[in-house]
Amino acid sequence: MKEQLESIRVKAMEALEDASTPAALEELRVKLLGKKGELTAVLKQMGKLSAEERPIMGQMANSVRAAIEEKLEERKETIHAAAMEARLAAETIDVTIPGESYCIGHQHPMNQVLQQIKDTFVGMGYEVYEAPEVELADYNFTRLNIEEGHPSRDRSDTFYFTDDDSVLLRTQTSPMQIRYMETHKPPICMLAPGRVFRKDEADATHSPMFHQIEGLVVAEDITMGDLKGALISILRKVYGESAATRFRPHHFPFTEPSCEMDMACHKCHGTGELDGQVCSTCHGEGWIEVLGAGMVHPKVLENCGIDPEKYSGFAFGMGLERMAMGQLKINDLRLIFDNDVRFLNQF
Ligand code: DAH
Repeated sequence: MKEQLESIRVKAMEALEDASTPAALEELRVKLLGKKGELTAVLKQMGKLSAEERPIMGQMANSVRAAIEEKLEERKETIHAAAMEARLAAETIDVTIPGESYCIGHQHPMNQVLQQIKDTFVGMGYEVYEAPEVELADYNFTRLNIEEGHPSRDRSDTFYFTDDDSVLLRTQTSPMQIRYMETHKPPICMLAPGRVFRKDEADATHSPMFHQIEGLVVAEDITMGDLKGALISILRKVYGESAATRFRPHHFPFTEPSCEMDMACHKCHGTGELDGQVCSTCHGEGWIEVLGAGMVHPKVLENCGIDPEKYSGFAFGMGLERMAMGQLKINDLRLIFDNDVRFLNQF
């Protein structure tokens, strides 16, 4: 029995030394010390021993058990420490590796200019208004006093949705005037920026989609002086106090009288010449047209149920891309829509 116990101890020590996982240790614990374990099996034979031998063997069995338990504990700690060390090594973070850099975007240059224009008008008391891009011909043309057969209604200029030409992609932001006047009574002070669509080939100054900003003021005693005052101040705000502007007579069906407003070319500063050559930005004109405007036609007011005897107003429509190109000194319209980051990062 002594040999048996000694052999259990020796084998247990070896097996425990070889065990390398918590699971293997647990298996050994059951095998050695469990109810059906080797040590219990030996102890069951104690009854057969003599009275003198029994306490001696009992003591020896206890010391074998104690030795196994101690070894188990020691191995448990060692295995746990090794596992911890391996985990720490695997999860090491090198705080000196440079972080992942990411780009922070910014507003598109067109939106920057739009925001500035909107802010300025809102500061003058204008309300910003939005309306659909898919529009009725009635709003886009008829109620704006643009008669049947007018060239701008032509299918070669306008994107129509229906065979009867009654639904279209708006070709201008002016129908917003009608929509606004239908739902609001004077005094009116409205600004309506938005996308417009025309069947134009894209080149340096044209695009089938571009942006306009429509303005409308209707109240009692509104005059052409109010129109000029508002428009000159907005252009000075965007282009600086020294910006040179001029008004030219023009014709629009929905205003009477009508005019166009130009600003001095930002490239040649109004001379029409650049390094002895004709300025390519203004084609030698020295001026760039930025908007159309005029006093709202009495028929348009009537079409919206507003009494032209009592009220008068002015309206204007400016090209946002034109304004942005002038302010940011961009010479090709297509750059604005290409969205090449090398271009956009410059603003
Ligand atoms: N809608 C015109 C265009 O697209 C621009 C315009 C001219 C708007 C005169 C107006 C205006 O409100 O009064 O060419």
